[in-house]
Amino acid sequence: MNVLILGGGGREHTFCWKLGQSPLCRKIFVAPGNAGTQQTATNLPIDPMHFEAVKQAILTHSIGMVVVGPEAPLVAGIHDFIKSDKALEGVLVIGPEKLAATLEGSKEFAKEFMQRHEIPTAKYASFTSATLDDGKAFLAAMNAPYVLKADGLAAGKGVLIIDNLAEAQAELESMLVNEKFGAASQTVVIEEFLRGIELSAFVLTDGKAAVNFPMAKDYKRIGEGDTGLNTGGMGAVSPVPFVTPKFEKKIQDRIITPTLEGLKKDNIPFQGFIFIGLIKVGEDPFVIEYNVRMGDPETEVVLPRIESDLMELLLATGKQSLQSQHLVLDPQVATTVMAVSGGYPEAYEKGKEIKGLEETTGKSLLFHAGTQQEGSTVVTSGGRVLSSTGKGSSLKTALAESYATLAKLDFEGINYRKDIGFDL
Ligand code: AMP
Ligand code: GLY
Repeated sequence: MNVLILGGGGREHTFCWKLGQSPLCRKIFVAPGNAGTQQTATNLPIDPMHFEAVKQAILTHSIGMVVVGPEAPLVAGIHDFIKSDKALEGVLVIGPEKLAATLEGSKEFAKEFMQRHEIPTAKYASFTSATLDDGKAFLAAMNAPYVLKADGLAAGKGVLIIDNLAEAQAELESMLVNEKFGAASQTVVIEEFLRGIELSAFVLTDGKAAVNFPMAKDYKRIGEGDTGLNTGGMGAVSPVPFVTPKFEKKIQDRIITPTLEGLKKDNIPFQGFIFIGLIKVGEDPFVIEYNVRMGDPETEVVLPRIESDLMELLLATGKQSLQSQHLVLDPQVATTVMAVSGGYPEAYEKGKEIKGLEETTGKSLLFHAGTQQEGSTVVTSGGRVLSSTGKGSSLKTALAESYATLAKLDFEGINYRKDIGFDL
């Protein structure tokens, strides 16, 4: 079967690498892809939000399966679009329909879902410009820090955590009245602050059965010691050492199972990956957020730990036969460290030549993110540039491999955290 992967980051390169190992996979196309995916697959210059162009690519290249990397096309309804088009009948989409994608597309929808199904999460209330004064009063009755969340998609920037009440009230007003995050902040969810350590769980579901993928922990802040601005993710590790069998059972019983059951009870079909952002408070797990796709850079440590044929799992998802599948895992630790452009996550320059790539080819798991082939050179084309995955019997040996690969690489302004895994 031919596969089309939508997206162009490290996550999509990792899917491309993993699916490329399957005898069930014939040709892989990636839209738009990057310089890494181009080495083994065919890049198509298509914006995944341009559904008509995606349709033409499916028809032209006889695509049997579309794997949707990022959330935006899912929230915009790419699955529904493909499903409702007669010419695309039988094309399998990995990634849910619009209704289920609302779990990521609207924080309020996700909170109501959790409340309805008694899934542990921070207490909350939501407000619009019509209830701004109630929102300010709600904040005044809470303790600091204050957590304000734009309801809609805001490219990972829509969550504010503020220590000062007056500032929190002003930000609430700016989000609701001045639409600080555009339409995404027409509704704002205010949450109780949870103190703990974060981790992520991943589940592949066909709507009936589900297979748990390995958990991971990512590092979102730009600076060492988890300081500075939030980014898309600066690194990740899997497994997560503080997830004991007892804690894992709590995650399964209190969160994963009720989530899957809740989707069924609410008649919300779901075919694809559920990424559950969790926080461990004391000894108990709480949900921070749902995503309806795999994480980036979590994918760069999760898929390399899977020995099973991923294509077989995705095909089983389409046939609703995941029940008969189980995952074979590599017991090794995987780590990934993201090399980013100087200045990221604020303004940064693109088009810097990446040197040393030939030294890593075939020898390491180096996943491309914001890279682009220009003639015979590869240049930077985004904030997050390369994700270096290492594997080993311990966190230390896996990290040594991640960092050894990065030491061979260079581009003007290159930056990466030297302390991934520091807190474990
Ligand atoms: P989100 O976009 O929902 O993942 O939120 C971004 C980040 O904000 C999370 O990864 C957490 O670090 C933090 N965060 C979100 N909600 C809370 C909360 N209720 N308590 C503490 N931290 C939170
Ligand atoms: N690394 C977080 C995300 O993919 O949303």
